[in-house]
Amino acid sequence: MSEKNINVKVFRYDPIGDKEPYYQDFEVPFVEGMSAMDALDYIYQNLDSTLAYYDHAGCSLGICARCTGRINGKAGLLCQTPVSGEVTLEPTKKDKVLKDLVMKR
Ligand code: FES
Repeated sequence: MSEKNINVKVFRYDPIGDKEPYYQDFEVPFVEGMSAMDALDYIYQNLDSTLAYYDHAGCSLGICARCTGRINGKAGLLCQTPVSGEVTLEPTKKDKVLKDLVMKR
């Protein structure tokens, strides 16, 4: 891994095609102050457009809480949580996953 990249491990699960959830690793260019949502945006736009997460449906301002998830095991808002180094992103409730990081409400 380059010093200018971060490794982002993302929970993946599509109930239609996957028997079990799994984690997928992505290398994402590091930008000072980037949020977990910024990393997901990079993955979606450059590496894997099948990734499901709340983006445009949310505010990206820390107000709506649609982007709630687990960042390195701690619950938080993906759009407000800075990331660096090794990062694991998961839904808060894996038993309520519709796809990847999107959960039933
Ligand atoms: S997208 Fe609204 S709080 Fe993160």
